[in-house]
Amino acid sequence: MNKVYQDIHELCVAGANLFVEEAQKAIVTRGRFSVALSGGSTPRQLFEEIAKKEWHEKLDWHKIFIFWGDERFVPADDPQSNQKMAWESLLRYVPIPEENVFPIPFTETAAKSAEQYERVLKQFFADSWPQIDLVLLGLGPDGHTASLFPGSNALNEEKRWVCPSKTKAPGPERITLTFPVLNHAGLVCFMVTGKEKAEMVKEILKPVSAELIYPAQRIQPLNGRLIWLLDEAAAKLIS
Ligand code: 6PG
Repeated sequence: MNKVYQDIHELCVAGANLFVEEAQKAIVTRGRFSVALSGGSTPRQLFEEIAKKEWHEKLDWHKIFIFWGDERFVPADDPQSNQKMAWESLLRYVPIPEENVFPIPFTETAAKSAEQYERVLKQFFADSWPQIDLVLLGLGPDGHTASLFPGSNALNEEKRWVCPSKTKAPGPERITLTFPVLNHAGLVCFMVTGKEKAEMVKEILKPVSAELIYPAQRIQPLNGRLIWLLDEAAAKLIS
């Protein structure tokens, strides 16, 4: 399902409402809510919206468990860190117990960080594949999502839950959840804004061929739901 909003503020209000509704539903039906956060400028604005009292006071944060869909292989206090961004924009403002927050660890290597995070997920979910209630994703202009980049070694991973991912773009190595994990989510929500994404949004949501060319096209929840929240600028070639 695609929803188009006038601008990023309206999208983030809708995203905050969706977050609260999904969390309340999961807590009532399963006693807990798990969410995998994304990096990026659009998710950051969503986190800042959820951090407002009008939203976060609707939730029992003791029953909310925070994971990440991906991370840059940098120390937790590095400006590029997704967990740093989430702490600064949301987690510092809500009464979530620290033991409910599971950042991707910065260890000796990206591979060791991925292995360690996979152990954390397997301990929490104890399933054959984890069903994360809500996975938040952004979209890069090259069609990447999380840290699943075109040409990345991580695209073909079918067994591991977490793996290192190299990107051609300059910057640190990445660690990312793999397609099988993302596609076992209860709900996957893309949040995409800006005219620079319009072409890729069209390529993904209105493809001319059945070939899955871009990583974001391979986000197809097996049993869960998929929602795209777009602003008008990002949706201008499909609406
Ligand atoms: C990251 C994200 C990445 C991001 C997209 C979109 O760590 O940066 O995993 O996938 O969501 O690049 O980012 P923007 O919303 O900033 O365009």
